[in-house]
Amino acid sequence: MPSVRLEYDIFPEAAALEPSLQELIREAQYAAEHLAYAPYSGFQVGAAVLLANGQIIRGSNQENASFPAGTCAERVALHTAAVLHPGVTVTAIAITYTKKQIDPSMMHEVLSPCGICRQVINEVSQRQQAAIHILMCSADGTILSVKDAKELLPFSFGSKML
Ligand code: THU
Repeated sequence: MPSVRLEYDIFPEAAALEPSLQELIREAQYAAEHLAYAPYSGFQVGAAVLLANGQIIRGSNQENASFPAGTCAERVALHTAAVLHPGVTVTAIAITYTKKQIDPSMMHEVLSPCGICRQVINEVSQRQQAAIHILMCSADGTILSVKDAKELLPFSFGSKML
């Protein structure tokens, strides 16, 4: 039977990663802690995008009293990068979160991007014709790394259908 394989790495802490990716994670943490606007869920998400020109662009979730109007951190970061650095390749994205109380059993769970954000990551990756390395972080510092984020959305819908 045909099947889909996903290859990933797990790092116990950011120190195991190369310095540029460590910095990327720090920026995502800053965004979660200081830039998120999450008064409704209390779930503060931070993202940071690394560009081929070395720039790092932060994003955070931006909620709204009309709940569906809110936006995830990943999309804020990716779309901000698209307007501030048009045409520059996104090489990596780090995502992390913080909230007031984290159940000890959840400390190890990484923040995995929602379906809409996976669709957006796919579009950016397809548009630039280059893979985006994704680093998903947990509250205890564990990092799940996937070298090509579009693998998180197999059988995806894309522009070739239109
Ligand atoms: N959220 C993100 O920012 N990124 C994700 O990948 C998952 C969810 C936000 C949306 C909302 O503000 C809060 O987390 C709770 O769903």
